[in-house]
Amino acid sequence: MTALVCPVCGEPLSARERAFVCTGARGRIHSFDRGADGTVNLAGGGYRPVSGDPPDMVAARCAFLRAGWYAPLAERLAEAADGLGAVADAGCGEGFYSVAAARRCGFLYGFDLSKKAVSRAAKLARAEGLENTLFSVASVYSLPLADRSVDAVFSVFAPVAEEEFFRVLRPGGTLFIAAAGTEHLYELKAALYDTVRKNAPRADLPAVPLKKETLTFSRTLPRDALRSLYRMTPYSRRSSPESEAKLAALSELTVTFSFDLYRCEATK
Ligand SMILES: C[S@@+](CC[C@H](N)C(=O)[O-])C[C@H]1O[C@@H](n2cnc3c(N)ncnc32)[C@H](O)[C@@H]1O
Repeated sequence: MTALVCPVCGEPLSARERAFVCTGARGRIHSFDRGADGTVNLAGGGYRPVSGDPPDMVAARCAFLRAGWYAPLAERLAEAADGLGAVADAGCGEGFYSVAAARRCGFLYGFDLSKKAVSRAAKLARAEGLENTLFSVASVYSLPLADRSVDAVFSVFAPVAEEEFFRVLRPGGTLFIAAAGTEHLYELKAALYDTVRKNAPRADLPAVPLKKETLTFSRTLPRDALRSLYRMTPYSRRSSPESEAKLAALSELTVTFSFDLYRCEATK
């Protein structure tokens, strides 16, 4: 038995060799096949395959993160997972932070609406020799997890589904949210645009007392890394060809990375 529940009837899911199968306690057994990559689609009826980030954005994020540019953030998340039983990474993307957490916790569930990202995450975990992970297509707003079943929920640059996160957290479990800080990527924006503002604080934070710390560091990025960074951000979707050309002309750029890290405990 796992912490997973059937997205159709909500009954517990058991792992079989090639599938997850529910108990059928409500009269009908539902079965969800595991792909060759080990992932499973537990998104339920409302899932649209186009949901999630587009493939080029996923590929850029993969290249950038795996080059280690955000390693201090990964280390901070790994510390937060250290010694915990089950952790859910909600909106896990291609699993860079999930894998960092999985090295330090008992079991890691990664959920994302992007099938491609989830598949990459599973392959990364396999390449790292981790057998304590399961990556699944699912929405953060409808996690296929039992009530009070995990010790921590991580939400890293992903939508915050407050009610759902507190539903799946055990009492005393930790919600950990990582979001862009006010200074994050300031120089990248300054290279693209004439007028630049600092980032506004995140607006969709849970309405509960949160402990906040900020992790800030800067790195000088060579052209390739700068391009990957740009392509993984929303700026690549809204910049003019002129702005893109300005960025492409740079051989390197020193960029500030700043992350707001919020944490709170589930009380019930
Ligand atoms: C900016 S990426 C962050 C990915 C990963 N946490 C990271 O930091 O590398 C946001 C992720 O949230 C996913 N996402 C967006 N809406 C979602 C939803 N409703 N449910 C699950 N995942 C979602 C996207 O597919 C994408 O992978």
